[in-house]
Amino acid sequence: MSTQSLYPVSPELAENSKINEDQYRKMYQESVVNPEGFWREHGQRISWFKPFTKIKKVSFDDHNLFINWFADGTLNATYNCVDRHLEARGDKTAIIWEGDDPSEQRTLTYRQLHIEVSKFANALRSQGVRKGDVVTIYMPMVPEAAIAMLSCARIGAVHSVIFGGFSPDSIASRINDGSSRVVITSDEAIRGGRTIPLKANIDLALQSPDVKTVEKVIVLNRTGGHIDFVEGRDVWWHELMAVSSEYCQAEEQNAEDPLFILYTSGSTGSPKGVLHTTGGYMVYASMTHEYVFDYREDEVYWCTADVGWITGHSYMVYGPLANGATVLMHEGVPNWPDISRMGEMIERHNVNILYTAPTLIRALMAQATEGYPNFDSSSLRIMGSVGEPINPEAWRWYYQEIGKEQCPIVDTWWQTETGGVLISPLPGATDLKPGSATRPFFGVQPALVDNMGNLIDGEGEGNLVILDSWPGQMRSVYGDHERFVLTYFKTFRGMYFTGDGARRDGDGYYWITGRVDDVINVSGHRLGTAEIESALVAHPDVAEAAVVGYPHDIKGQGIYAYVTLNADKEESEELRQALRQWVRSEIGALASPDLVQWAPGLPKTRSGKIMRRFLRKIAADEVSALGDASTLADPTVLDGLIDQRMNRG
Ligand code: WT7
Repeated sequence: MSTQSLYPVSPELAENSKINEDQYRKMYQESVVNPEGFWREHGQRISWFKPFTKIKKVSFDDHNLFINWFADGTLNATYNCVDRHLEARGDKTAIIWEGDDPSEQRTLTYRQLHIEVSKFANALRSQGVRKGDVVTIYMPMVPEAAIAMLSCARIGAVHSVIFGGFSPDSIASRINDGSSRVVITSDEAIRGGRTIPLKANIDLALQSPDVKTVEKVIVLNRTGGHIDFVEGRDVWWHELMAVSSEYCQAEEQNAEDPLFILYTSGSTGSPKGVLHTTGGYMVYASMTHEYVFDYREDEVYWCTADVGWITGHSYMVYGPLANGATVLMHEGVPNWPDISRMGEMIERHNVNILYTAPTLIRALMAQATEGYPNFDSSSLRIMGSVGEPINPEAWRWYYQEIGKEQCPIVDTWWQTETGGVLISPLPGATDLKPGSATRPFFGVQPALVDNMGNLIDGEGEGNLVILDSWPGQMRSVYGDHERFVLTYFKTFRGMYFTGDGARRDGDGYYWITGRVDDVINVSGHRLGTAEIESALVAHPDVAEAAVVGYPHDIKGQGIYAYVTLNADKEESEELRQALRQWVRSEIGALASPDLVQWAPGLPKTRSGKIMRRFLRKIAADEVSALGDASTLADPTVLDGLIDQRMNRG
């Protein structure tokens, strides 16, 4: 495979795209020199009930923090995603859905989506949901997931979507944090030929004595599988819909009214409810979707993310639907029943834009020993990557095997907190370098700082911060504003701290090097090592645990746990499996450790702090240069750990 390191924009693409290099430079310049003027203009891309006159009111001062965009405007997110398209695009397909089993296919036009959303919004009202209420959504990848989200937004309710892979305990803590009274779920989900008992998980979550707020559970019949039905609490989706009216006026929301909460892991404590508001988020999600993917009217756009993650929120629902796009939604996984599924789907639905994750690309690459099965890729124009750094080898494979060297790759760096893409190439403007997310989007001012917070100029490496606000920025941690300030604005005062490290090269391109905090990224899923540790120590046999990430060929990072057992407990293979299963049931399968090493002792300072950098090195099998161990209370523990290490190259 070639190791070309620069992929210049082709002259045709520069000519035919929305933004070429000159336009990028001009618009970027304007967006940072005159943000008020820039966003006054681009704020118009959204339909406002009452137009805004204020643009941006922001302070990143940790003693007096506020973030407001378009604050005196009013709008409705769902009106923007559905109603406003009815006149010109009523019969256009909004959602193409393909089941886990490819023989199941459905489409919804914008007009049909409008009817479904209006009816379900009325159904929610009939169950007592009011503006400002938090509604929990735990759904499979079916159009009803998007309908549920849009229905909440239509009546001003705040949705909190929980990824279908999370366990009953994780569901319970999220429901509690949001004080949800209504939960929307389905009997089961189907993924890769297997069913996942969503309703049974909800039942278990609601059995927890801590969960006191839930009054209603709305259940979609997806598979018809057996479920327990709790009389008075559980209601069928289809029974509510059968008696619901098709007319439902969209609530007039203030720009800064909450749109949704989405939980994400940090370096400490339980997952945070990232709060996004309405106006700025909609402007930013739709604008980035249009420019980053160079989206054109009548294109078919496929994002492989689950709605349970921010990518599913911004780039499967709100961004593309606000732009009137045709979105392909897939219930299953693109490498099941085998790797040809992805190509078949591109071909079957004439996909023009594909947005997926490095972990999937690496999985395809690993299985495609004879090259990727041939498919007609002629519709494909733009390909995206998101979730973690993409290694140049996977980038080139994606470019050659899926894009057939015809499609630029937009490597989009962003976070749950940022609402939309902050650093990414624009197809017609940016020469590509495999592995680099390249340059900031309009209005975004990234910078690098050293550990003291000093700005690094020119080429260099450091902590990635953002110097000023953009409209899609999160506004708070739900129910804990102090934590918001503390997590993002206190490390480097006056700046938003991303938690990532990055390098900037001589062309001003950013290369994200990964998290610099105790967050790990497993197959693009973000996990806090502290969460996994607290799950492990909750096991009766465990005295202490330390969790780190280690390089993993497919997942990007794997989970490596060092476990100290209680004195009377025996180390055994059985217990090792039991601990992995334990974490699976405490948090979810995605958090289950790949490797568990027994650790009679952990490397600690004299004051008792675990020195994780040693543990990271041992987990990475980099044991020849561990560094200075003189600050350890007992440096000899390292020898034992090195001796017993599990990941040997
Ligand atoms: C973290 C955010 C953004 C939606 C999916 C993940 C990592 C994300 C990239 C990329 C390098 C990336 C960062 C970031 N990340 N995209 N293109 N290149 N790293 O959202 O769960 O909030 O995770 O994912 O480390 O901080 P998330």
